[in-house]
Amino acid sequence: MGYDFKITRTASPKAKPDQTALGFGKYYTDHMFLMDYDEGQGWHDGRIVPYGPLSIDPAACTLHYAQMTFEGMKAYRNPEGGINLFRPDMNAKRLQNSNDRLCIPRIDVDLFIEAVKALVDVDRDWVPEAQGTSLYIRPFIISPEPSMAVHPASKYWFIIILSPVAAYYEGNDKELHGSRIWVEEEYIRAAVGGTGFAKCGGNYSCGMIAATEAKKQGCEEVLWLDAKEHKYVEEVGTSNAFFKINGKVYTSSLTGSILPGVTRDSAIRLMRKWGVEVEEKRLEIDDLLAAAADGSLTEAWATGTACVVSPIGLLRYRGENFPINGEKVGELSQKLYDTLYGMQTGTAPDVMGDWVVTL
Ligand code: COI
Repeated sequence: MGYDFKITRTASPKAKPDQTALGFGKYYTDHMFLMDYDEGQGWHDGRIVPYGPLSIDPAACTLHYAQMTFEGMKAYRNPEGGINLFRPDMNAKRLQNSNDRLCIPRIDVDLFIEAVKALVDVDRDWVPEAQGTSLYIRPFIISPEPSMAVHPASKYWFIIILSPVAAYYEGNDKELHGSRIWVEEEYIRAAVGGTGFAKCGGNYSCGMIAATEAKKQGCEEVLWLDAKEHKYVEEVGTSNAFFKINGKVYTSSLTGSILPGVTRDSAIRLMRKWGVEVEEKRLEIDDLLAAAADGSLTEAWATGTACVVSPIGLLRYRGENFPINGEKVGELSQKLYDTLYGMQTGTAPDVMGDWVVTL
């Protein structure tokens, strides 16, 4: 509380993009938040400035050794014209855990939330209102410190940028569809003891090769298996994965290689509130495919801030297709999407009481 961020407004605001053709991550707003960290001084000089390029030394250690962390959040236009954030404290706490893993100094939860709120407030006209759209918020930390030696930096930048977006998977903002998912057997995303639970760039760049293979296989995303035995189901693309088998819902337990998704946690809590049995456990790929083949796997979906709830219509494994629910969107996936997106946009009540923060 009580942070006094200096605000310098742009002299040349940009034209807003067409809300019906936003895509994901194509447009950025007029301002950004910047804050410095220097050893001995801590985080200081939080400020909002016109959006623009950063000047960075080519030897900056983040550019070489990927010492960085980030978050993903969204702001939504509510029916009263106000703006809703969704569980921002969860992102603030997760960033602290990511920072611990990457040897980056923590940012206080209050400071993080107040910085996000201040920036969204300055660019509040950029929060879109078309069905399925939102303002994606990307807080991230990098180090500008020139150093080719591999060690934690003593200088960092905390930056927040904003991007008006439609659905992560094209079309899902208008109507959900079942994505085709490639079961990846060769490459892995994260190993226990590694950085899988943290949100850092390396977890995403190492997945691109498998996503490229998935596209060649006619699929939209990858289903990741565990690093050690390539036997247990972990995540789907950049999201958490859920499977409904014989009426019970399964998602991977937080083994250390799984990202503790805010939407994952929200979906589990909502389903338990509705009386749906949810078990967090490591599911074997063989059991999952057997359940797909005999029809007991009736629904599957991914959850994430960017994708919200994205149904999975088909699994492709070693050249064989395993459709789920005839590739149609399941009832529970649709209900979860409608409830979460409804709460986020303020068109449905916040049944959990304190998930929605309005500004
Ligand atoms: C998110 O869901 O916010 C993510 O971080 C996924 C992303 C890499 C687009």
